[in-house]
Amino acid sequence: MKREGRRRPYGVITRGTTNPNRLRRVDNWIVATCGDLLRDATDPLVVDLGYGASPVTAVELRARLAASVRPDVRLVGLEIDPERVAAAEPAADPPGLTFARGGFELAGLRPVLVRALNVLRQYDESAVPGAWQTITAALGPGGMLVEGTCDELGRLGGWLLIDADGPRSLTLAARLATLTTPAELAERLPKALIHRNVPGERVHDLIRALDDAWRAAAGYAPYGPRQRWLHAVQSLKDAGWPLLDRPARWRLGELTVPWSVVAPA
Ligand SMILES: C[S@@+](CC[C@H](N)C(=O)[O-])C[C@H]1O[C@@H](n2cnc3c(N)ncnc32)[C@H](O)[C@@H]1O
Repeated sequence: MKREGRRRPYGVITRGTTNPNRLRRVDNWIVATCGDLLRDATDPLVVDLGYGASPVTAVELRARLAASVRPDVRLVGLEIDPERVAAAEPAADPPGLTFARGGFELAGLRPVLVRALNVLRQYDESAVPGAWQTITAALGPGGMLVEGTCDELGRLGGWLLIDADGPRSLTLAARLATLTTPAELAERLPKALIHRNVPGERVHDLIRALDDAWRAAAGYAPYGPRQRWLHAVQSLKDAGWPLLDRPARWRLGELTVPWSVVAPA
């Protein structure tokens, strides 16, 4: 078995910005979408890759999965910065929550699920495919990677569900009470898409269609932003966009599409 420290972690130290509750939207989605994967796993091992200057979002993910999916979940927070590993140590609660040094190679662990939020954002776009490949090659059988970006407070976010064959879906998520227009989501697309919000790219077509639908649904604004979002997303579906999720998720300010709908040209 490979042990942590045997080889140099793959990746580079980047800014450690994080915030309590910043990742609640993606965690909520993980519980709903990846819950069965974890329930069925012989070893319910999850890695939070690149937890940042404070381990707070790793602590939160473990608590959410333990409460909503299975109490014996084991979460390992991996950081490439050894000082951040040392700083996280007081928050450890073994065996359910531990911290270690590691990079995209996952320090020899074989988790069923990896969350990597706001990690690739600071890399070059060209580094993304290699990072995905290294992470997914290290996953346990049937394992999944959730990789994406959000704003400082977690009001806007975008993430990909990725397996060994590549990305499967893109989810956009917004706090509807503070959303001015869905075009704001473009700033928080995952690294693989953030530079592709330009004419001729499919993700640009999606954001523009959502923005147009939001404007067209302005008549529902007096009933609240949730009603407006529900109608906007329904009209995308009616126009033939192949949405993967249902109104129960739309109500939360989400929208999920297959990767093929947004993959770079
Ligand atoms: C902006 S923080 C994100 C913190 C947290 N995930 C969040 O979303 O709030 C990014 C962290 O990822 C770490 N990081 C960057 N590349 C990494 C890699 N290849 N493996 C592990 N950690 C990495 C950085 O050192 C930094 O602490």
